Amino acid sequence: MKQKFAVIGHPIGHSLSPDMHNASFKELGIDGSYQKIEIKEEELGEFMKKAKNEFSGLNVTIPHKVAVMDYLDGLDKSAKAAGAVNTVHFSKSGAIGYNTDGMGAIDALEKAFKSKKILHGGSGESAKCKKFLHGVEDAAGGTIKGKNFLHGGEDAAGGTIKGKKILLIGAGGAAKGIASEAIMRGALLTICNRTKEKAEKLARDVGKAGVVAFDEKAVTRAVKDSDIVINATSMGMEPRTDKTPLTKEQMRPGLTVMDIVYNPLKTQLLKEAEGAGAIIISGVDMFVFQGAEAEKIWLGVEPPVETMRKTVMEILND
Ligand SMILES: NC(=O)c1ccc[n+]([C@@H]2O[C@H](COP(=O)([O-])OP(=O)(O)OC[C@H]3O[C@@H](n4cnc5c(N)ncnc54)[C@H](OP(=O)(O)O)[C@@H]3O)[C@@H](O)[C@H]2O)c1
Repeated sequence: MKQKFAVIGHPIGHSLSPDMHNASFKELGIDGSYQKIEIKEEELGEFMKKAKNEFSGLNVTIPHKVAVMDYLDGLDKSAKAAGAVNTVHFSKSGAIGYNTDGMGAIDALEKAFKSKKILHGGSGESAKCKKFLHGVEDAAGGTIKGKNFLHGGEDAAGGTIKGKKILLIGAGGAAKGIASEAIMRGALLTICNRTKEKAEKLARDVGKAGVVAFDEKAVTRAVKDSDIVINATSMGMEPRTDKTPLTKEQMRPGLTVMDIVYNPLKTQLLKEAEGAGAIIISGVDMFVFQGAEAEKIWLGVEPPVETMRKTVMEILND
């Protein structure tokens, strides 16, 4: 029987999840289909009641990642730790919520570290290099010609984020997953969000994070004190692509800047970061990794990550 999957959210028009998962199902030979469904806040309850009879699994995006938990029968530890759900599996034990955002984001970051193409120090020469990491092929394919690797090529933390100072901008659904995963993998986390109370709540929830105000002075200081900045707000996302949480003046060579927004591929934040000589990582790998984790949960298979990534890149580069 054909298995049905979908991503629900509002707005959902720009989601590339259907393209990515349908390409994967095709390669895996799975009789499945994946669609995007526009669901407004007031429609969520009704939709979730019917969904278990129709779908095998769902992805959940803005603005439902927290609200959807009211309609589930159980939560995996990833969703409990994050306090948000981006993946639902309609299993024999009911509708179970997971969070694959955090794993996807930190895997993407660590993949970039492990590629040994992350530059450190930002010398004049390295500042001229192409430092746009958006995948294995690019990183390993010689497009990034830096000579100063992270800690001289011997990353003390073995290509992981352990001990690294991360400034996480945002405290929404995606930020929750990233914060809990970052803490779990040993990063030193500071959170900054437009609505400060949400940053404070998230810091309390994950246990060991600091909080800074979302104002220019405080953020500039926090960036200076960080090894890595992750934008987990929707600033810069289509169609408001001119928005950025940081400007060039607030960043520096040697800083690693990851934007989880992947549409457009190179957001205004990444352009600013590149202008400052920082290392930039797009949201594409996180997107692919969080999707791959979801397929493992739904189907128990090893997803064809490179096909998924290629599909997304082709659309974004179009
Ligand atoms: N690459 C990936 O795989 C991936 C995965 C998940 C999400 N994303 C992207 O990540 C972004 C956030 O997703 P989400 O699910 O976390 O959304 P969300 O739960 O709605 O959270 C939105 C976050 O953005 C902040 N924000 C929104 N507009 C802002 C503005 N004008 N100025 C400052 N802060 C602003 C919000 O701050 P307040 O709390 O103050 O409202 C909140 O922290 C979206 O663009 C989404 O597409 C990417």
